[in-house]
Amino acid sequence: MQLSNNFLWGGATADFQFDGAYQEDGRGLSTHDFETDGSVQHPRCNTFKTADGQFGELPSSFFAPDSLPDGAEPCLYEDRYYPSHKAVDHYHRYKEDIALLAGMGMNVYRFSICWSRIFPTGDELEPNEAGFRFYDGIFAELEKHGMQPLVTIHHDELPVALALKYDGWSSRHTIDCYVRYCKALFERYGKRCKYWLTFNEINAVRGFAACGTHKCDNQTHYNAVHNMFLASARAVKLGHEMMPGSMFGAMYAMSELYPATCKPEDVFTRLQKRRESYYFIDTMARGYYPSYAADLLARRGVTLHTEPGDDAILAAGALDYVSFSYYRSNVCSTETRMNVIGGDPNPYLELTPWGWPIDPLGLRFLMNELWDRYQKPLFIVENGLGAVDKVEEDGSIQDDYRIAFLKDHLRAMMEAIATDGVQCLGYTMWAPIDLVSLSTGEMKKRYGFIYVDMDDKGNGTLERKPKKSYYWMKDVIASNGEKLWAE
Ligand code: BG6
Repeated sequence: MQLSNNFLWGGATADFQFDGAYQEDGRGLSTHDFETDGSVQHPRCNTFKTADGQFGELPSSFFAPDSLPDGAEPCLYEDRYYPSHKAVDHYHRYKEDIALLAGMGMNVYRFSICWSRIFPTGDELEPNEAGFRFYDGIFAELEKHGMQPLVTIHHDELPVALALKYDGWSSRHTIDCYVRYCKALFERYGKRCKYWLTFNEINAVRGFAACGTHKCDNQTHYNAVHNMFLASARAVKLGHEMMPGSMFGAMYAMSELYPATCKPEDVFTRLQKRRESYYFIDTMARGYYPSYAADLLARRGVTLHTEPGDDAILAAGALDYVSFSYYRSNVCSTETRMNVIGGDPNPYLELTPWGWPIDPLGLRFLMNELWDRYQKPLFIVENGLGAVDKVEEDGSIQDDYRIAFLKDHLRAMMEAIATDGVQCLGYTMWAPIDLVSLSTGEMKKRYGFIYVDMDDKGNGTLERKPKKSYYWMKDVIASNGEKLWAE
């Protein structure tokens, strides 16, 4: 079994987990800059000062965020470590990093542009020229190596000034700022970039760091989401006008979801839970809210703030492809309390060291579901295994567990494409070079084909070193997947 020659094989990263250089070239502070390091036992926090100037911290579990206290403002403290400030210093090492990815034969690289590098407060009318230079360099390196860029315009963060001044995505003003930011990107990179993602994991983000909203209640959240839908649709329409042939997606966190039993109530619960994510894809891919939206919002006590003309904006900006991350599956029943991820244990599946169920068949299932539902090409833009890697005495890293995980998932993907007939543009593995974990803020939760010498507190040489999986994946790509079936 083999994929077609134009299949896109690559890797994906995000700026606040990878780039660092948080104060260089005029970059403004971004909402993720206030997140500390952490671990499963001691969750990372957003640090802030209270209205009367006291230190405060808010556990920033990505998937269960909390509201900031009234009058609180995010604040940086010297005795805390903030991983995004340095990340793994891709900013100063991008040439070496991209050469390593090209060395594997990758033909696409997904990366995010940091809004506050281009518009430091989000409110400026003209972009920050110095902020473009880093991305000019990335585009040039990709071209040199014959790789396609896949750009995430908004990866879970925004200029903190927009959060403070307008409450982030709560405000329609943020839509205008976002569209101005998109226009600047399209003007600069429109001739060099075909594939764009308007938002990352838009069905999973909530709260200050990801949406710039001080509150996390449903009313605030779903209104902010409506504004993000409008922003995405306006960006898509503008992008199509400015860059004929460009293709737009948005990215969804899509774990496959199973009912715990065949009890009809559990199966129906599964349908309703599924719709919590489909709410996002249905609206953005079709260009209108699904029929169940009214019930979903009513059950959450939400009255959506809409304006005349919103429907037309959504309709004019439907997405071209459906992209998603897939790390795991979940189980639900009428008793389950869960967010986008989490749920009941699945006795049939093994877990990653971070407790995520490993389910390659779930990926094939999901791809079929999405293709059947939308009939738009898919793009798997994140999939991978977070694990602890050990550097052996001879300096090698024998990550056979990662090879096994990827092999099973890539086989499932190929079966969805070749056997089931699903259309899929490509696969970008998260994350080809070790970087900071989003949910825990750790470095030791490593995903890469390439090891980075750095610990949870930012100590280390930052030297890059290919792992065993690097050479394995290189062969997989060279054979367009055929090697997966030869072993
Ligand atoms: C997705 C995000 O949620 O999953 C990435 O788009 C993130 O930013 C990835 O890093 C893996 O999650 P984690 O928490 O293991 O880093």
